Amino acid sequence: MHRPTMFVTAIISTLSLSPAMAQQAPQPMMEAAFVAQTCAVCHGGPGNNPPTMPAIHGADAKAIYDSLIDLKTNKRPSTIMGRIARGYSDDQLKAVAEYLSRY
Ligand code: HEC
Repeated sequence: MHRPTMFVTAIISTLSLSPAMAQQAPQPMMEAAFVAQTCAVCHGGPGNNPPTMPAIHGADAKAIYDSLIDLKTNKRPSTIMGRIARGYSDDQLKAVAEYLSRY
């Protein structure tokens, strides 16, 4: 096992996401896996979202991406999510949307 994979596995484990996610993730998904950990702080993990927060795991990748772009561009007003989305490039948002759709 690679060291980076072990590192991601360790981080994901601390957030009670499945370590299998990191082990199955192909290399381009690794960065998205890291980004998804920051999302989980508010949104929760798969099947584990707080009742007051929109669930983002397992939705359609294109729908997640479109929401993120609408939030990023303020087309869809938000309290915090627009600022978070503006912290990432469109490609990074696409990768994290793809990741979240799978897990
Ligand atoms: C600080 C807490 C916080 C973090 C961290 C966070 N979000 Fe959000 N997110 C929110 C809130 C709150 C909303 C509701 C919109 C608003 O008012 O900002 C939201 C809305 C969303 C939505 C729209 C969901 C829907 O169905 O309406 C998506 C998609 C989303 N977040 C994805 C992400 C992704 C991807 C990340 C990680 C890059 C992330 N969020 C990180 C708080 C957070």
